[in-house]
Amino acid sequence: MPLHLDPNDRAKLTAAYHAMDFIEDGMKVGLGTGSTAAWLVKLLGARRHLEGLEILAVSTSEATEALARKMKIPTTTLEEAGWLDLTIDGADEADADLTLIKGGGGALLREKIVATASDRMVVIADPAKMVETLGAFPLPVEVVKFGWEASQSLVRDILEDSDVEGSRILRRMRDGAPFVTDEGHFILDLHLGRIGDPEGLAADLLSVPGVVETGLFTDIAETMVVGLPSGEAVFH
Ligand code: 5RP
Repeated sequence: MPLHLDPNDRAKLTAAYHAMDFIEDGMKVGLGTGSTAAWLVKLLGARRHLEGLEILAVSTSEATEALARKMKIPTTTLEEAGWLDLTIDGADEADADLTLIKGGGGALLREKIVATASDRMVVIADPAKMVETLGAFPLPVEVVKFGWEASQSLVRDILEDSDVEGSRILRRMRDGAPFVTDEGHFILDLHLGRIGDPEGLAADLLSVPGVVETGLFTDIAETMVVGLPSGEAVFH
């Protein structure tokens, strides 16, 4: 039965499909979070079933872990795996240097830990994720619950000192309750419009007590696979 997908979903599926070529028998693989990464997990489950591919996976979120189990992909913890051959994950934005904004799905902390414990990070995305300058997508910043408002004030001061305009919004669920990450933290979404110096901004934000991690991924991604609705992919 043919799959009826909108062009964006087709692009995401295509990116995941082409990224499968990076996965080899015997590898330990980090599995990302989000709708593009979900395609990867489904394709990987199917490939294991059809080809008997032996891999061991580490999930970057509880949601991905649940999907991986459903697809009968063997998973373990990062502690058990130790080091990974490869992590494949989505992104909210990527520039030409493959600096990323991640965390739209709220998994940025585990995603960064898993990606940096891997020989290689491959990003999979639809074409809309490639941007000239990062920042149109709100930058997620993970903060501990305790004193989060104090952390937010210090984040505001940093933005003002660096002449970056923008608002900070505590991420909430549909019912109005704060969104809580898998690690039990809150997320501040920074609406900045434009991020001129990602590395500098990330360092400044990480200097705030209570800030656990930012969604800026600099010098982590090695390859990006941009899927097109046509079924072709462009590699960066
Ligand atoms: C989750 C992420 C995702 O990779 C990012 O939000 C992209 O998601 P999608 O593939 O659904 O567009 O960083 O924390």
